[in-house]
Amino acid sequence: MVTPHINAQKGDFSERVIMSGDPIRVKYIADNFLENAYEVTNVRSMLGFTGHYKNVMVSVMSHGIGIPSALIYIKELIQYYNIKKIIRVGTCGAVRNDIKLKDIVIAMGACTDSKVNRLKFNNYDFSAIADFEMLCNAVKYSKKININVRVGNFFTTDLFYAYDYKIYDLLSKYNIIGIDMETSGIYSISSELNIQTVSICSVSDHIIHGQMLSVNDRENSFNDMIEIALETIII
Ligand code: HPA
Repeated sequence: MVTPHINAQKGDFSERVIMSGDPIRVKYIADNFLENAYEVTNVRSMLGFTGHYKNVMVSVMSHGIGIPSALIYIKELIQYYNIKKIIRVGTCGAVRNDIKLKDIVIAMGACTDSKVNRLKFNNYDFSAIADFEMLCNAVKYSKKININVRVGNFFTTDLFYAYDYKIYDLLSKYNIIGIDMETSGIYSISSELNIQTVSICSVSDHIIHGQMLSVNDRENSFNDMIEIALETIII
């Protein structure tokens, strides 16, 4: 039996999964950071691989773009494959002057314009927060390798192309350090289903300054982030 969206067999996944939106990026992580990685799922080309990092079994799986897509894969991973830890490694936008392209930002919590958490949480405001221990471990390892990370609040949006640009002033004023499309939903489902998670992103575009990283530039900051994520998930 396989799930509607994952065709791996039971036992193919590690309890520890690094996730990212783009299947090509996931294959990059498997090819360059894991030993003996093999493909475990490919439904809709949403690839997943399992291999080893420092002798610990680790999987890496894509979650697509946006909360609805991410929650499909995460729910199936938790409920059918028994995974216990997720670290998202992604890209995000920035709006503040003190955040630059390529900065690595870690979401302590995430606000959202999505209705998903309210749909699940009886229409109350859910405080979507990272797992404290994982967050601390990620920060500790970053310090150890002298990589400056910013820790703070994210904004998870359903709209990559905002219809009202005034929202960016508001986000800047409220000290939002990263804008992505998944973290708030990932944090709430992780609380609901009792797993540990943290979301680490590198800044790929500065919305106010109109800057965007080239594909090559993305890779460098991405490698640091992957190392931080892998070192954190094997603890
Ligand atoms: N907005 C939302 N999600 C993103 C962005 C953005 O500007 N950049 C990378 N992911």
